[in-house]
Amino acid sequence: MSTDYAGPLRDALVAADFTYDGVAGLMGEAPHRALSRNETTPGLRRTTDGSPLATLTRLFLLQAPVTHEAAEAALPGLVDRLCNAGILEQSVGEVAARLDCRPYRTDDQDLWIVSDLTPGLDGAPNRVGSDHVLGISSASTSLAQLTIREPVGRALDLGTGCGVQALHLAAHAAEVVATDVNTRALWMTRLNAALNEVDVDVREGSFFEPVRGERFDLVATNPPFVISPATGERLVYRDSGLPGDRVVEDIVRQAPDLLADGGWCQVLGNWVIERGRAWDERLASWLDAGCDALVVQREVVDPSEYVELWLKDAGLHGSDDYVRRYDTWLSWFDEHGIEGVGFGWIDLHRTGGGRHELLDWPYDVEQPIGPAIAEWGAAVGTEVSVDDHLVARPDLLQETQGRPGAEDPSTIVLRQQRGLRRARQVDTLEAAFVGACDGDLSVDQIVGALAQILGRDAGDVRRELLPLAGELVAEGFLTRG
Ligand SMILES: C[S@@+](CC[C@H](N)C(=O)[O-])C[C@H]1O[C@@H](n2cnc3c(N)ncnc32)[C@H](O)[C@@H]1O
Repeated sequence: MSTDYAGPLRDALVAADFTYDGVAGLMGEAPHRALSRNETTPGLRRTTDGSPLATLTRLFLLQAPVTHEAAEAALPGLVDRLCNAGILEQSVGEVAARLDCRPYRTDDQDLWIVSDLTPGLDGAPNRVGSDHVLGISSASTSLAQLTIREPVGRALDLGTGCGVQALHLAAHAAEVVATDVNTRALWMTRLNAALNEVDVDVREGSFFEPVRGERFDLVATNPPFVISPATGERLVYRDSGLPGDRVVEDIVRQAPDLLADGGWCQVLGNWVIERGRAWDERLASWLDAGCDALVVQREVVDPSEYVELWLKDAGLHGSDDYVRRYDTWLSWFDEHGIEGVGFGWIDLHRTGGGRHELLDWPYDVEQPIGPAIAEWGAAVGTEVSVDDHLVARPDLLQETQGRPGAEDPSTIVLRQQRGLRRARQVDTLEAAFVGACDGDLSVDQIVGALAQILGRDAGDVRRELLPLAGELVAEGFLTRG
């Protein structure tokens, strides 16, 4: 389907200042927040000035019909073309949106994203068709913030949906390939690429099939990872049709073959936590010996929380067969020995290294977290020698706890204020070592000084501290000077 109206549409959106800030400024903070809760009334009250910006906001974000004259004023010469393209529809005197078109701001760009309309505004039923194309979800944002934004040659967005990741990738990749099985999604990705004046090579096909034999420097994917009994209608944006968490496992197992040397694959996913088995044991078995891997489990939910989340997402809460579906899903979890579901990220870095860290980290992290993952990749596996000059990262704080008046603290924790915001419990020797790492003294000089202060043998102190120094570098507490 042609997208030759994309250029004029972009011009109209620019002319109306239909940007994230423009809309936020027009609506004001509280109505803008109300819309993020799917409530339109406060926004409707603030968009009555008849300006093109108000018209576009009412039409696309608040899903309110506008007059034909207002639509023509905001989208000059485009109303009929957008109706023919299925983006708008018109009845006598009124024009309404059939698709969403909204401004989206990245760190340094104003973009626009066309997707299916947000379901469930003002409490309306939020059931959607099986080929629904999601707009920007919280999962899209998580992956966008996770993705390492360094200049690369070839990047792949697997399961592109409306193309949001592809648009992000186009800002730092020379070539972007986007794949999906949903032809409506592929059309929207092409449209969004044209609307935002970027080149994306959009390909139809399942998972890695359209890119078999190719290599990428960066793969970013938010796959359809919902773990369900696969009964009933499949929502393609979230259900892969594969059993359990196979979709994530398959991607993690196959991605290394697709990565160029030094390439990264970053996957957002859900995984099964089996009864009686540590979460990381199963995930570790998926990881390739040719890649370093950082797996971060951000949240764990129990089966009932999980089932409720996704039945509500599908608009089934309150439906006649809600209880039956809930029960079927729970029974299926039970039969498969699933006691919880993990949410998180898997980052694979093709280095030939095979160093794997699986981290259960439900705490707040700095966003975007991508730079911290790149730093992890650079630091993991670095051997520390006695001649190294290490530096404690500048955002590090030391927290001590103990009884009032006690000579020594009972616990000392080093806490990063940035990145993953890791915390590490240390003893007084390790704390003193980190405190002395200012880049001037070598590891051996610090060891010698600490041994003298503590009246200990320098060889013993060195043997104790050297492996810890390696861990401190790998975890980002220390860097090389
Ligand atoms: C959760 S959405 C992610 C959309 C978008 N990348 C984002 O980050 O918001 C998952 C996408 O995977 C697509 N998908 C489902 N099954 C697929 C398959 N077998 N191969 C490729 N893509 C698939 C869906 O159509 C959907 O667009």
